[in-house]
Amino acid sequence: MGMGVEGKTPSVRTAIAEMQEYVPVRTSESLAQKLGLRLDQIMKLDANENPYGCSPKVLRALGRYSSYHRYPDPQQEETRSLLAEYVGVPADYLLLGMGADELIDYVLRLYVETGDEVIELPPTFGMYSFSTHVCGGKLVPVPRGERFEIDLEGVERAITERTKVIFVDSPNNPSGGMPSMEDVERLLATGRVVVLDEAYSEFSNLTFAPLVQRYPNLVVLRTFSKWAGLAGLRVGYGVFPLPMLRQLWKMKQPYNLNVAAEVAVHESLLDSKRLLAKVKRIIRERGRLLGMLESLDFLRVYPSQGNYILCDVLEGNAMELMQFMAHRGIILRYFKKPRLMNSIRISVGLPEHTDAVVAGLREWRASQG
Ligand SMILES: Cc1ncc(COP(=O)(O)O)c(C=O)c1O
Repeated sequence: MGMGVEGKTPSVRTAIAEMQEYVPVRTSESLAQKLGLRLDQIMKLDANENPYGCSPKVLRALGRYSSYHRYPDPQQEETRSLLAEYVGVPADYLLLGMGADELIDYVLRLYVETGDEVIELPPTFGMYSFSTHVCGGKLVPVPRGERFEIDLEGVERAITERTKVIFVDSPNNPSGGMPSMEDVERLLATGRVVVLDEAYSEFSNLTFAPLVQRYPNLVVLRTFSKWAGLAGLRVGYGVFPLPMLRQLWKMKQPYNLNVAAEVAVHESLLDSKRLLAKVKRIIRERGRLLGMLESLDFLRVYPSQGNYILCDVLEGNAMELMQFMAHRGIILRYFKKPRLMNSIRISVGLPEHTDAVVAGLREWRASQG
């Protein structure tokens, strides 16, 4: 074995040593400090969070709960049976984790040996590449088309005997479009594990979850971060084919879902009517934001099924635009990635956020001369 830098400690795995360092996402507090603004002047529209927060029932129940000194149920029995009703699949198909992020990692650790290939369809969510690299897998990007359509032929050409997993967002983050049933069926026909990431499905009103009972290679991931406003408590889940799930149970950390998260899930599900009414408001606001953005001649706006809208900036520089808005306390997302070098993503917030965003964009346009 090779020796570490000081000749004492073992070398870290090559896959990790070769990874780029993680750029942490800033909290509202650190943004306020950096920008010299008060915390209440920050409109955080860069992480697709829920502007209405979680259910008030969650807040009350967390204060009442008295067994934080006990470990959680490793089998997640009660939570899975409540969740089964919400998702509309039997509880046997479900596994909860520390955000959908943990389940992305589990799927990859289940299938990917060093050098195995994982297909993603960029621009897309960053955790597929992150977790693939942690596993020592080789990421194979099959870029989407100019309007973010999936390149099915490209995916089929990219498949080799080492391809294990294909990740598809439904809807796609950041472009907001959905795969069609035909897309999904063709991807499933490759025989590889197809992970449909439905983190935003409550905003699209469409789920492929019931299909998992028919396809042994389909996984559907969902989360409580967005519709239920629990991003900070970290709860996601997957709908898995039974033979795959038997293997996942073997490798799951017994206490991966903490008791606070369990309490929050129970209360959110009991209060789902109220939470889904808030989702409806966000969907309405998405429509209003879309219309207002479309009226700005320097943007190309992509209709979205998520709680965010992506825009190409047709005149001017998107990174400068993002900085201009940040100085007004409006935090938008800029990605330094291919195809997105002159785009911004705006999370749908409260009506006053929409108004502030559009006013800020107009001001920026005027400042451009
Ligand atoms: C497409 C997609 N999948 C998964 C996640 C992560 O979900 P969670 O908060 O449950 O880990 C996000 C969060 O932004 C996302 O955009």
